[in-house]
Amino acid sequence: RRVAVLFGGRSSEHSISCATAGGVLRAIDRDRYDVIPVGITREGAFVLEADDPERFALDPAHLPEVVDNGTRVHWPESTASRELTVTDASGTRSLGDVDVVFPILHGRFGEDGTVQSLIELAGLPYVGNGVLASAIAMDKHVAKTVLEGAGIPVAPWVTVTRRALDANRDLWERRIRALGLPVFVKPARAGSSVGVTKVSDWSGLDDALEVAFAEDRSVLVEGAMEGREIECGVLEGRGGAATRVSVAGEIVVTGREFYDFEAKYLDAPGIDLVCPADLGDGELDELHRVALRAFEAIGGEGLARVDVFLTGEGYVVNEVNTMPGFTPISMFPTCWQHTGLTYGELITELVETGAE
Ligand code: DAL
Ligand code: MG
Repeated sequence: RRVAVLFGGRSSEHSISCATAGGVLRAIDRDRYDVIPVGITREGAFVLEADDPERFALDPAHLPEVVDNGTRVHWPESTASRELTVTDASGTRSLGDVDVVFPILHGRFGEDGTVQSLIELAGLPYVGNGVLASAIAMDKHVAKTVLEGAGIPVAPWVTVTRRALDANRDLWERRIRALGLPVFVKPARAGSSVGVTKVSDWSGLDDALEVAFAEDRSVLVEGAMEGREIECGVLEGRGGAATRVSVAGEIVVTGREFYDFEAKYLDAPGIDLVCPADLGDGELDELHRVALRAFEAIGGEGLARVDVFLTGEGYVVNEVNTMPGFTPISMFPTCWQHTGLTYGELITELVETGAE
């Protein structure tokens, strides 16, 4: 099969997407798959990339990036064709017919349904979540509303736009303060903790709101949950088989405010990732039920990573990630490894399910 791997993109998680793609290019089964690596620059140009995982290694000192190399990859002209073409200095040539597109994109303009729409319009099969599930999960306010509507516990929150805040600051501050300290301030649509601040003293609220508003016009303030931070992977079954949930991983915060961008990707100290997490049988079963319900509530397809808190009153869902980080150190592939699927097998599962 021929797989077009899309990565990079216009979001603040551009480099993380490149690192994820680097991991996939390294591990994908080359006997089974021909790969067309298509990079999307920060400006949104689709370029033909070198099929070289080393170019996209996750190096904390130099995060990987898609740069405009002057090539342009073109989608099929209509649904009658599956052919990708590329234009470069020597003209336009075929890249062959594509069997499945693997949009390994994180964040806005990639994980939010926009690129999924483009692929749907082209009539090509693709890996992972569809337009609506992607869009729901990308917006933290909408996602929490949908999960809550399905009866799934979520952390209490207040969503505010810049315009509403400016119009009536006192009212919004009262609503926010009613959550009690500490709170997390987050852009509605971002990932990898970009723009997220933990506020432990109300004097820090204004700055935290500014940081989040720099990423999005809509911002969530969430009451911090007391409990353990647990994540697990969800994988749609191939050929109609049941959806599976992985063992759990745990984020143990030892010497840091929270699991922020630096801890996720830049090797900053103060976080331990433990997999499998130490959960009792009953706790693991309940986690699987909650994760499946969350996946179903958003209309999930293909894959997701469900992030939860294990509190004294049971599980509270933090979020559903429709294209979780996939770098070799990321929690999603690690959880599957401990469930019995290697990184390479996981990619095969995803590609085959996407092509069905
Ligand atoms: N948004 C990042 C990539 C994650 O969920 O893993
Ligand atoms: Mg996330």
